[in-house]
Amino acid sequence: EKGGWSSFMAKEISEQPEAVANTLRSRITPEGHIDIPELAKVVADTQITRVVFIACGTAAYSAMLGAYAMEKWAHIPASVELSHEFRYRDAVIDAHTLVVSVSQSGETMDTLMAVRHAAEAGATTVSICNTQGATIPRESTATLYTHAGPEVAVASTKAFSAQVVATYLLALAFGEARGALSAAERAELAEALLAAPDQMAEMVQTGERIHELAHWMADTHSVLYLGRHVGYPIALEGALKLKELAYIHAEGFAAGELKHGPIALIEPGQIVFVVVPSPRDPRSLHSKVVSNIQEIRARGARVIALAERGDAAVLPFADEVIALPPAHTFVEPLLAVIPLHLFGMELAMAKGLDVDQPRNLAKSVTVE
Ligand code: BG6
Repeated sequence: EKGGWSSFMAKEISEQPEAVANTLRSRITPEGHIDIPELAKVVADTQITRVVFIACGTAAYSAMLGAYAMEKWAHIPASVELSHEFRYRDAVIDAHTLVVSVSQSGETMDTLMAVRHAAEAGATTVSICNTQGATIPRESTATLYTHAGPEVAVASTKAFSAQVVATYLLALAFGEARGALSAAERAELAEALLAAPDQMAEMVQTGERIHELAHWMADTHSVLYLGRHVGYPIALEGALKLKELAYIHAEGFAAGELKHGPIALIEPGQIVFVVVPSPRDPRSLHSKVVSNIQEIRARGARVIALAERGDAAVLPFADEVIALPPAHTFVEPLLAVIPLHLFGMELAMAKGLDVDQPRNLAKSVTVE
């Protein structure tokens, strides 16, 4: 039931902190030990030399974060493929491949067929799923359930956040098993992840501000989203939500691609959301993204920056800044995604649309 909420979507966006807390609960100790018995055998399998995530839609964006985490924390080569592309392109899969499917419903036909295809080729399969006993988990070698609770709105929100942390847990489990992470690194990551739900709750509070922004933009026909590293999948997710919910043309880009094409789209008044890395980022990605903001601003873009609280470098160039509490790099996407989910919903509401049941979409696509 949606209780006092205007929609299931509003309720489910607000439940994201809980979805993450429940998915982490009892699986990660403050010292960074991963305790997930259902994954023990897979994680101990030293034959596995690479990981391929497969998924569709929103789930595929969570998988991108999982692949980044897998390479960084476990040093295992990892990639992401859309299930329907993976299955039909003669991908090289063998007994050394771990295929990780990510699916809220566990029934998405494209993903199910890709899992079967992987199993036939000898791969080990792990299902990250939000639905107990669904077909994909039943057919997989092992399952890591997300505990987001039932998700009713067609467009996925809280399941997405839960999927992100589930992929992180998988990466940490491999990182620990393979000795790729020091005890200190594991403890730091555990602390960061366990702090995420409270920080996410702060982001849910941006609702009113986003409501005003969305009303100001209700007649817009195009919105662009830029992000880099962990902000890139979030840019894609922000754009997908706007298409799904508000039927507005939207695209997400890797900020580094801007000069290779998308900057040609910038004309006066173009709205661009930018997910800004923390100024504490040691790879100077922050200053690169701030330069991107200057470039598009000089061409008339209206910039809405999602930036760390107190990030003074962004202020002179952004039309609006949505502040994020300072967080670990891999927690930042869990924070930035919330205002983008809210924006998609608010813009749809400003247009008088049904946010729970967008036209032409189904919650679970059980046909190919
Ligand atoms: C789409 C839904 O049809 O399927 C999306 O509208 C979802 O919200 C996608 O992300 C994948 O679904 P699932 O159940 O496999 O995660």
